[in-house]
Amino acid sequence: MDGKALAAKVDVATKNKVQKLADQGIVPGLVVILVGEDPASQIYVRNKERRAKKMGLNSVVRKLPDTISESELIEVIHEYNVNPKIHAILVQLPLPAQIDEFHITMAIAPEKDVDGFHPLNLGRLLVNKVAKTPVACTPQGIMTILNAYHISLSGKKVVIIGRSTIVGKPMAALLVNANATVTIAHSHTRHLSEVTREADILIVAVGIAHFIHAKDVKEGAVVVDVGMDRDADNKLVGDVDFESVKPKAAFLTPVPKGVGPMTITTLMAQTVSLAEWSSE
Ligand code: GUN
Repeated sequence: MDGKALAAKVDVATKNKVQKLADQGIVPGLVVILVGEDPASQIYVRNKERRAKKMGLNSVVRKLPDTISESELIEVIHEYNVNPKIHAILVQLPLPAQIDEFHITMAIAPEKDVDGFHPLNLGRLLVNKVAKTPVACTPQGIMTILNAYHISLSGKKVVIIGRSTIVGKPMAALLVNANATVTIAHSHTRHLSEVTREADILIVAVGIAHFIHAKDVKEGAVVVDVGMDRDADNKLVGDVDFESVKPKAAFLTPVPKGVGPMTITTLMAQTVSLAEWSSE
């Protein structure tokens, strides 16, 4: 499954919406807050900035020192909560140890929470009331991929490996809402390979290079690789051993050019949606 090509298609639709908003004098604004100098986060933030500018958004990157206190960071978030030029606020994770991610998530105005991590937005997702609700970008991007490849979800057995608030839990909620039968596996799951071999659709978000091999996958399964790992040669690879799984899977997302581009594309689309909803 080609995430890059699909992302380009979705971007065209998003750009058209940006144009329509421009006709009303609205430029969707996204602020990405980066605390500290984590090299991977710096790359992700640079990519988001580049894409946001390409889409014609008002793109702001706010860099803060890793010594910042939780209350100082919350002050900065409040500044953007009341800034009418900013429609979407993203605080890049992970954060330094002195800052509680949950407190930061709670500080973001729910109507500007482009990551969909605020408990109000997560709650709306759980009760399946997602109209005008931001949803975590990676799971939402995966839903767009599954949909684009006409992979039906109703009654399907889906196994997600990973229970994070960024991927696993919102992914499970989206899939249950789409009538799939969902299992969330994680580091405490016993006999993991037996569990994954049952999956019609296997979504892997563990963060370990080449964690899943052909023996862990059912013949004809759909496999979605959320990993962004480095192999021994520092090459970007996924959680799935692509070469061994490819002949067995009906569909498989590559790394790179799979889930990653769709995540950023969804972030852009959702920034535009937040700007549209705020103007209604
Ligand atoms: N770090 C890794 N993925 C994400 C994400 O989706 N959102 C944020 N804010 N930080 C991340």
